[in-house]
Amino acid sequence: MKATILVGGKATRLHPLTYNIPKAMVPVLNTPFLEHVIRHLSSHGIKDIILAQSHFSQLIESYFGNGSQFGVKLRYIIEDIPLGTAGAVKNAEKYLDETFLVLNGDIFTDLDITAMIAFHQARTAKVTITLTPVDDPTSYGLVETNARSRVTRFLEKPSRKQITTNMINAGTYILEPDTLNRIPPQTNFSFERELFPLLLDQGEPIYGYPSTVYWIDIGTPEKYLQLHRDLLSGSSVQHSYPVGEEIAIVEQSSIDPTTQIKGPILIGSNCTIGRRVKLIGPLVIGSASTISEEAVIEASIIWKNARLEPGVNLRDSIIADNGRLNANSIIHGSVLGDNVTVASGCKLEPGSKIPPGTVVKPKGDS
Ligand code: GDD
Ligand code: MG
Repeated sequence: MKATILVGGKATRLHPLTYNIPKAMVPVLNTPFLEHVIRHLSSHGIKDIILAQSHFSQLIESYFGNGSQFGVKLRYIIEDIPLGTAGAVKNAEKYLDETFLVLNGDIFTDLDITAMIAFHQARTAKVTITLTPVDDPTSYGLVETNARSRVTRFLEKPSRKQITTNMINAGTYILEPDTLNRIPPQTNFSFERELFPLLLDQGEPIYGYPSTVYWIDIGTPEKYLQLHRDLLSGSSVQHSYPVGEEIAIVEQSSIDPTTQIKGPILIGSNCTIGRRVKLIGPLVIGSASTISEEAVIEASIIWKNARLEPGVNLRDSIIADNGRLNANSIIHGSVLGDNVTVASGCKLEPGSKIPPGTVVKPKGDS
């Protein structure tokens, strides 16, 4: 079975991390997010994958190429203007002549795709949609089903008053190819708001495949941090790192013997960790990063090539590529885009989101 992965969204909710890269390339455990998705598909025997993209297509292609390095065959379909979720798949129609999978490209899940395919086939469904329970459905697509799992209603982004179930569209679909005939070509068209409700009105058999395995949409910085906390504490069966309080995984880096470590921590290659640094997990440090003496870093995700000068205090934050945190700066609960510099002694307001390339100076300095 072929799969189309939707990787063409604007990812504005992940700003400032995604001004210069797509959501698909955001690193998770120091590996682009999309690589985890592709490996998961491949582990279920799905090796023929189409990437439907619009923004930043070049960055994705230059990393993944034809897919052979990842054991899959990749093809790329590029939209001149974003066509919406269903429009993007319509755009790939020439490759889709049999039952196929569609995946939102921003979901990390342990979904049993093999079992979902069997479910779809057993019911001769036109569409099968994976459902997952969430505490708050308001930022998702609510899906009602009857006792036989047949979908009876869709409600995208319900208000609080409209919530009738906690089961939402989990962003993985199986579709029969003739559903593509209902999508207008080269037109912005949505699965969630247009195609699925239309098929439902026409009485087509649409089923919900309920699943309670690990699932998260990495759409916001908070969710992105949550994913790391979850992966580093062993919530997903997909990552092979050992888990536990004292675990530090270090890939060919130099760590001073006076460094204090409380795991779980992942440190990429070619990093240097200086004297009396305190590292408190869950924490990920990207490759080629330098953490100088007496810095204290807790519960944060640092991308590659960061430089933290002596005495930096970092907590509950995300630092994108090439971050420069000068001596004694204090950064708590903040998200820094790529190439941000924070001046010595500067304390950021908790909740700050700093766009790429910014130089942050103490208040009063110009
Ligand atoms: N190629 C392409 N073109 N991809 C797109 C486009 C487009 O115009 N628009 C969005 N995408 C991709 C995004 O990159 C993402 O991978 C996926 O489609 C879903 O878009 P989001 O913008 O992340 O949607 P959402 O999270 O608000 O809601 C969707 O996902 C929820 C589950 O996380 C909906 O499908 C909800 O119903 C669902 O509950
Ligand atoms: Mg999303």
